[in-house]
Amino acid sequence: MISRSQRILGLDIGSHTVKAVELAKSGDRVSVTGYAQADIAAAGTLKDAISAVIREGRFRSKQVVSSVSGRSVIVRYINTPFIKSEDLKASMKFEADKYIPFDVNEVILDCVPLDDKPSAETGDMRVVLVAVKKDMVDEHVRLLQEAGLFPYIIDVDCFALGNAFEVCEHEADEASAEPQDGPAADEDAKVAPETGDADAAEDVAEAHVEKGERAADEVAAAAGEDAAEHAQPAPKAEKAGAKAPGAADEKGNGKGPHEKVFALVDIGAQKTNINILEGVNSYFTREVYIGGEDMTEAVSKHLGVTPEEAETIKCAGDREAEVLEAVAQTIDDLANEVFLSFDYFENQFDAEIKTVYISGGGSRLKGIEGVLSQTLARRVKMWDPSAGMELSLTQGQANKLRENAPQLAVAMGLASRLRKV
Ligand SMILES: Nc1ncnc2c1ncn2[C@@H]1O[C@H](COP(=O)(O)OP(=O)(O)OP(=O)(O)O)[C@@H](O)[C@H]1O
Ligand SMILES: [Mg+2]
Repeated sequence: MISRSQRILGLDIGSHTVKAVELAKSGDRVSVTGYAQADIAAAGTLKDAISAVIREGRFRSKQVVSSVSGRSVIVRYINTPFIKSEDLKASMKFEADKYIPFDVNEVILDCVPLDDKPSAETGDMRVVLVAVKKDMVDEHVRLLQEAGLFPYIIDVDCFALGNAFEVCEHEADEASAEPQDGPAADEDAKVAPETGDADAAEDVAEAHVEKGERAADEVAAAAGEDAAEHAQPAPKAEKAGAKAPGAADEKGNGKGPHEKVFALVDIGAQKTNINILEGVNSYFTREVYIGGEDMTEAVSKHLGVTPEEAETIKCAGDREAEVLEAVAQTIDDLANEVFLSFDYFENQFDAEIKTVYISGGGSRLKGIEGVLSQTLARRVKMWDPSAGMELSLTQGQANKLRENAPQLAVAMGLASRLRKV
């Protein structure tokens, strides 16, 4: 159950920047009612950064959806002999060690069937398996609770990205369907007066009911539910009788990117997340451990400046040519990894990825769109996950959100779980 005021905070605790977006639901629409972000190094410690974000955002909801990512999180799309969904989890506990590189006793495991009947050809079903190191979830939950928040769901970055795209599309569609004064994708933010704490007490009271007392595996289960929505077809889907990506999509009806296969590539500080989708269905996810920190290091070496100076020069954007020269090899390495994933996917499914939407702080590097377009030989677009959203923020916050928007994809996707409660 979620609070009556229907708000939720999406908190993306990155390795470089903590980002938080609060969404509120009204009918079928959502709007942004709070936003803040803080760089961890500037704040001091991770805890300081989280506190700064909470202070600055003045969020009304204490219920938080946050995520884990990295090498301690394993997501696998597998084919397995058909088994009823109520028995799947128990069965997977015995099977999981085939698929995950950790001791099964050390992970929180969840799995969700992607088919409700066996494939006519093989008798198999497709399942998405998510395994997260217990220690990592416990630590994450503790961190949130210490910050005075109530963890509602612990999600996984790659699923949050897909969710962000879905909510963004939905809001843009709704906005364009509105006759006159609805928020259109490229319109300026609708800005509300400074938000007060009117609903805070109600939120806190409600949140206590469901609080972080969700057991760790319930928390992971929620991540798994999400996987079900986003990890539809596994490799060989066509053979199992499922539609291959690129085929007509009931949901998309030929509108926007739904008619095509596309990729979301979130370039963070330490890692880049690749998610290949058609419509709302994810076909492939992978993390590559190259990101903005590698770019900073390259700038530092190339220009002979300290890492701190390099970070400033890189982000300022006024020495574009020099910076692009410095990071050329890093972007090339990253693009090669992305290309390998695309190549694998395209061969496996005989489908073409036409558009690549880039997000994450690393996507804000001036000129990166052009470089990636050339290397990947595809249309590469910076993705603004707030486009089409109504912003109930102060003018100052709205401006800041617009400026940093590509960096907020994961936080937006986390908060967008609100739409499904
Ligand atoms: N304007 C900019 N130009 C270039 N790089 C930028 C800009 N703004 C932020 N960055 C870089 O983006 C990175 C932070 O992005 P983001 O917040 O997406 O990462 P994170 O979520 O903290 O990291 P990760 O997901 O890897 O844990 C940093 O490396 C930062 O230097
Ligand atoms: Mg990140």
